[in-house]
Amino acid sequence: MCAVISLAVCSAKGGVGKTSVVLGLASAALHRGTSTLVVDLDPQADATSGLDVIAQREHDVAAVLRTPKRRVAEDAVAPSGWVDDQPGLLDVLTGSDASADLDAPGSDEEALTALRRALRKLDDHDLALLDTPPSLNGLTRSAWRAADAVLVVSDASRFSVAAVDRTLREVRALRNAPRVVGILVNRFVPRSGEQRFRYEELQSLFGDLVLEPVPDRVAVPQSQGAGVPLHALRTRPAQAVAGQFDAVLDRVLLQA
Ligand SMILES: Nc1ncnc2c1ncn2[C@@H]1O[C@H](COP(=O)(O)OP(=O)(O)O)[C@@H](O)[C@H]1O
Ligand SMILES: [Mg+2]
Repeated sequence: MCAVISLAVCSAKGGVGKTSVVLGLASAALHRGTSTLVVDLDPQADATSGLDVIAQREHDVAAVLRTPKRRVAEDAVAPSGWVDDQPGLLDVLTGSDASADLDAPGSDEEALTALRRALRKLDDHDLALLDTPPSLNGLTRSAWRAADAVLVVSDASRFSVAAVDRTLREVRALRNAPRVVGILVNRFVPRSGEQRFRYEELQSLFGDLVLEPVPDRVAVPQSQGAGVPLHALRTRPAQAVAGQFDAVLDRVLLQA
């Protein structure tokens, strides 16, 4: 695709923080002036709403997956309300519940590569961040085929260890597999012995791929509720989490 680097953010489980990580990385990219396209593949379209998209478009990501033409793709892109004075700095390939129909587990290769073909036709961003639904079906597989890199998001719980393992195996089994740049444990509570145990278990299984965990902080839902980037909150906890997303973005840009 024409964005210099594209990153799929995924997990087999819901509610672990995929969309929050996409928003945190979009905030980090905006902070450093990297032009970014967020691609919202989740039928719940939380990234589209979290990025404060106001403009109504004729098309959305479901139309793009069905008809991966430049005209349709351009028409599905709307500016994020986070920026109003710099067009093109942060845009969203808008999501909608219509994409749910395209999340079949066994979609054919032609359908799975439609997103990659469409994104090649959008050529004016340096970074693409792909938010995905909580499954490893057609939409997430489309994201893997369109991405140079994959970031797996997880919580620190027993069932998540198995889910991370399955996700890594499925990504690595792909032909021309995108590079897995990290496993990001989110909503980490260090005082929980169980969470510390699961985090160490992930480290023992996946080594350096396991990134510094992002702690559970009210600043994350606060920024989402206010419809502003995390970097705009001036509290110390917000700045600390924002700094973690800066570091994750550095790693993505370095390793992808
Ligand atoms: N680090 C965090 N600290 C506190 N709350 C968080 C954090 N990350 C995510 N959340 C909250 O957890 C909920 C689920 O996160 P979300 O990003 O929607 O997950 P997913 O996209 O994987 O379903 C949201 O309400 C979000 O605000
Ligand atoms: Mg989500």
